[in-house]
Parts: sequence; C-alpha cells; structure tokens
Amino acid sequence: MAIRTDEPPATPGQKAATMFNAIYVTRDEDKNVSSAFTQLDDADLPQREVAIDVEYSTINYKDGLAIAGRPGVVRSYPIVPGIDLAGTVTASTDGRYSAGDKVVLNGWEVGESYWGGLAQKASLDADWLVPLPSAFTTEQAMAIGTAGYTAMLCVLGLEEHRVTPDGGPIVVTGASGGVGSTAVAILAKLGYEVVASTGRPEESTYLTDLGAAEVIDRSELGEENPRPLQSTRWAGAVDAVGSFTLANVIAQTLEGGCVTACGLAQGMDLPTSVAPFILRGVTLVGVNSVYEPFERRKLAWDRLAADLDPDKLAAITDVVGLSDSIKVADQILAGQVRGRVVVDVNA
Ligand SMILES: NC(=O)c1ccc[n+]([C@@H]2O[C@H](COP(=O)([O-])OP(=O)(O)OC[C@H]3O[C@@H](n4cnc5c(N)ncnc54)[C@H](OP(=O)(O)O)[C@@H]3O)[C@@H](O)[C@H]2O)c1
Repeated sequence: MAIRTDEPPATPGQKAATMFNAIYVTRDEDKNVSSAFTQLDDADLPQREVAIDVEYSTINYKDGLAIAGRPGVVRSYPIVPGIDLAGTVTASTDGRYSAGDKVVLNGWEVGESYWGGLAQKASLDADWLVPLPSAFTTEQAMAIGTAGYTAMLCVLGLEEHRVTPDGGPIVVTGASGGVGSTAVAILAKLGYEVVASTGRPEESTYLTDLGAAEVIDRSELGEENPRPLQSTRWAGAVDAVGSFTLANVIAQTLEGGCVTACGLAQGMDLPTSVAPFILRGVTLVGVNSVYEPFERRKLAWDRLAADLDPDKLAAITDVVGLSDSIKVADQILAGQVRGRVVVDVNA
C-alpha cells in the first residue's frame, strides 16, 4: 500500500459547519512550532476512506515530541497529533468497514504525516485500521496504545528467538514508562522472571505489583563506555531506552540470548562492538511498530487480549481530558509519566 503525502492545507475556523475539538500543531515562517487546544471545522479535516468519531487517544513518547515541536516526528504542518486512536466508524468508502464498527489505529505515520487521534474526529485509510478486539473497550485499547502494542511486539520477538520462561531473567529497561510497564505485566503473566530497571526507585512497589520479581536501579546499567562483554545476567531484554543502557544490556546477555530494542529515551547511540553477537551468539531484534502489516498487528492485539491482565492494565493507566494533552506531553518528555496516559477526547 502506498502512503499518500497529499494532505491539503487546512486553516481552522474559516467555514461555517460542525466544529470539533482538537490539539492543533502549527509552524510559523520562522519554524517556531506551537500547539494549542482548539476547535476545527469538519471541512478542514483531510478526507480519507474511513470517517471516525474518536473516543479515546493517548500520549506516547512520540506524541510528546510532536506536541513539543521537537524535530524528527512531524513531517507535515499544520497537523493534529496523536499516533493512536480508538473510536467508532461513522462512514466508509471501503467495504471492510461500515458505520458503527469499532476500530483501533496505531502508527502508519498518523500523527506524523497525517492528522491523528488527538481530536474528536479523524479520517483515515482502511488499511491502517484494526477492528477493536472484542476483549477491549476503546478506552482499554488506548491504555495499551502504541506503547503496549510495541511491548507485545517485543515479547513476540523474544518468543520467536527461543527465549522461554525457564531460560533465565528478562530485563525491562525504562520499566516505569509505557512500553516498560506493559512489558513487565505481559512477561510476568507469561511466567518469565522479570527484572525491572528504573531510574525511579519510588516506583518499586508499582513494578513488583505488575509482576516484576526484582527492581534494579538504572545505574546498574549505567556504564557510559561499557565493556562489550560483561558477566552475564539476562536471557533476554525489552529495551525502551537505547544508548549505553542498551549496550550494557547486550554486554550482560547470556549465550544465545535475545535483546529487543524499540526505544531511544536515553539516546540514539549504541556504544558496543560485535563481540556479544559473534562470541556469545546474542541476537539484537529491532522493533518498529509503525509499519507492521495487518496480520502481525492482529496477532499482537490477539496476544494482548490473551496475555495482558485487565487489572494490571487498569493499574498502569491514568485518564485525562483532551485539553490536558499539552501538559502531559511535557511531562512524558521529562520522564515524569508513570505507565500510560489515556486521553478522553470528549472530556
Ligand atoms: N519502535 C517503536 O515502534 C516504538 C513504539 C513505541 C515507543 N517507542 C519508543 O520507546 C521509548 C519508550 O516509549 P514510552 O511511550 O514507553 O515512553 P515513556 O512512557 O516516556 O517511557 C520511557 C521510560 O524510559 C526511561 N527513561 C527516560 N529517560 C531516560 C534516560 N535519560 N535514561 C534512561 N532511562 C530513561 C524512564 O523509565 P524509568 O523512570 O522507569 O527509568 C521512562 O519512563 C521511546 O523512545 C519511544 O519513542 C518506539
């Protein structure tokens, strides 16, 4: 499927029609980016195949970057941010969806190149959507969001590389964050011994309640120029942090182990060598949730329905109104958000 990049320019509030609430990110001639909670006109919404009344969205780390105007996320201004949404179809030109269907959207450059979920209305391509799994409400689907769906992709990566619960501990980095919290809960339910690495020792009880067997301070993975081979501790890893944390994790991974890398909360660099790969047979699995094909998305959502305890999901989730999104975006970039933040776009 080709991704179109032909978003028409939109100017809010010029035509008299139905208005809807949205977060709107604009860039001026001097390239200053600003975000506002505003009202947009129906006619401004770029029309795609499926019209959706959004019920819930969420704030992921990437949404924080987009709303704060950090470079590298938004490719087309102005834009409604929000890489995730769940809601109800109101009209569709594609036969796979009709009015009344509940759907979920994660990724596909929505909220980056295309208008996204932090609004009461969205219009998206049918190929990007997944039917809402019957196990979840739209609110629960957004409690999972891209962060939780990515955590599941990481777990699938471990399983596909023969990391089993009896093989040894799994370390989860950035454990108090969205990817990390969900990964801890899923892995613990599957019977893995989970070691949660966090810079927030005050969240130890939160992490053990999610199922972590042990909580370590992130400083234990904090060697900035790490030796590429260290004493081994981990059969596998879910890393949401990157940089020297990931290098330390790789250096401590057992012979034949597997490290899944999905994030860069610490940085994009990776100060390691080939030694762990060629001398210990460690596998580094990259995870990019954005363009996963429909069948893999469906698999991940089905596994989330089976392997994520709804009580644990509730425990990691806070709900805010749409106008709070800008404040939460700053908080997530400052590492101050615990777990997941759902946005009720109608509140
Ligand atoms: N590849 C993909 O498809 C994909 C999908 C989703 C997310 N991601 C990426 O995964 C990362 C996590 O996303 P998220 O939504 O879970 O974000 P998040 O909720 O902000 O979690 C990130 C966590 O990383 C830790 N952290 C933050 N700054 C750090 C630093 N300087 N050094 C070490 N640890 C730090 C913190 O955990 P503690 O306080 O517990 O240490 C923080 O809670 C982001 O980089 C995001 O862009 C990628």
